[in-house]
Order: sequence, then structure tokens, then C-alpha cells
Amino acid sequence: MVAVCDHDGRLLRHVAIIMDGNGRWASQRSLPREEGHRAGAESVRRILQAVIELSIPYLTIFAFSSENWRRPGREVGHLMGLMRYHLSNERDELVGRGIRVGFIGDRSGLDSDVLGLMSDMERATADGTALTVTVALNYGARDEIVRAARALAMDCAAGDLEPSTLDEEGFARHLDTSALPDPDLIIRTGGEQRLSNFLAWQGAYAELVFLDVPWPEFSRDDLEAAVSEFHRRDRRYGAVTTS
Ligand code: IPE
Ligand code: IPE
Ligand code: MG
Repeated sequence: MVAVCDHDGRLLRHVAIIMDGNGRWASQRSLPREEGHRAGAESVRRILQAVIELSIPYLTIFAFSSENWRRPGREVGHLMGLMRYHLSNERDELVGRGIRVGFIGDRSGLDSDVLGLMSDMERATADGTALTVTVALNYGARDEIVRAARALAMDCAAGDLEPSTLDEEGFARHLDTSALPDPDLIIRTGGEQRLSNFLAWQGAYAELVFLDVPWPEFSRDDLEAAVSEFHRRDRRYGAVTTS
């Protein structure tokens, strides 16, 4: 078991994961990409338990980006179908395990039945205290920042906000993540070393760990290795290390 405090005694509170590599995992096995997504969803179930046992209170997972609509309609349809399936079938189990589920991303782009299942899930799991899981669905950091800027501009136009008083905290309150701490650690599986429009504002000082393992094979050991790597990092936030 790895420790959850870093060497300064600060907690690792929030892990965010870019769950990448499903399609390539499937292709390497001569399976359709959809099989990779199915296996990836099973990986999520496995990893929730590991995160709880590591006493990490916040987990955010990138499930579908605002750019993923560019994929073939058949693949997008399958991904939305998987979302419907898991939102409908796992609610009671998540309630039983004390897992609170929330969502970030642009809801206006999603089908009304998916939106209904998302609201049901949020309502049913609202009292969970073991872990807060945030699913990024139709999420893009640039889109999120533009939506926040638009809301703030409207507040200014309505006379409810004086532009010169706006600061970072005030801006962050208009982001989808207003109720969450910033991620301490962002993990990307699947071998690519980029953020792909994930948590650009919130991840400004996150430690980044890139792993070659495709998401369907991501294990508890991989999570522990990433957490250990996080503890080895020296987080300076622009200052100098004093000890
Ligand atoms: C991540 O796996 C899942 C989503 C983006 C929805 P990919 O589907 O991107 O898998 P690769 O990167 O093509 O292997
Ligand atoms: C990022 O992966 C989005 C998710 C994991 C949901 P992509 O596979 O869409 O990213 P790119 O296309 O490699 O940048
Ligand atoms: Mg990918």
C-alpha cells in the first residue's frame, strides 16, 4: 500500500485520468474498437475500488471529449449507449458503496435521455462520502472556459459584476469544477503525452504521469505506481524549495 501524503504532508486529494488507448487495445486483438470501449468501462469499475482503498477522495475521469464527436457516428453511438447502460445499471451499487457521482462538460450537446440518467445519478448518489467521482462527458477545457467567460460577460452586462473586481477565484467559480479541488495528479494511459483539452485551467499545477498501458489493462498496480511517482515529485508552484 502506498502512502497518500507527499513528503510535505500534503494530501493527494484529487486524481484525474485521461482514459486513453481503448481503440488501439481492441485493434491489436483484431477486435472492433467498440470492444475496447466495453473493456474500458470494466476498467473504471475496477479502479474505483482501488481509489477508495488509497483514501483519495476525488477522482475525475475523461469519458468523452467535445472533440470526440468527430469520430464515426457508429462509434459515438456505441459510446453513448455504453454511458446509458452504466448510468442505468450501476446507480444502486454506487449508492451502496458511498460513491458520489457528478459530471462536467457541456450538457446542452447531450441527448435528453442521457441528461435524465445523469440527473438521476447525481440525485441518487448525492449523500456518498467514500469518493466523489466526476465524469467528464462532452467536456473540453476551452469550451468550459468560454462558457464561464460568457456567463461572466452576461453578469457584467446585467450590472451584477464589476469587471475590475474579477479575480482567479471568481473566474473559477464559473467553471464546471467549481465544487472540486484542483487535480493534484493527472494520469494519461495509452502512450500519448498530451492533455487533449482536459482540465487546462484546473491542471495548471497538476503533476502529469503518462503511462504506456492502454486503459482496458490499467490495474491497481499501475495506479499505485503513478501515485508513488507523484510522491517523488517536488511541487514548487513557482517558488523555491526551502528544506
Ligand atoms: C479513449 O480511447 C476513449 C475515448 C476517447 C472515448 P480511444 O478510443 O481514444 O482509444 P485510442 O486512443 O484510439 O486507442
Ligand atoms: C482524449 O482522448 C479524450 C478521452 C480520453 C475521452 P482522445 O483519444 O480523444 O485524444 P487524442 O485525439 O488522441 O488527442
Ligand atoms: Mg485516443
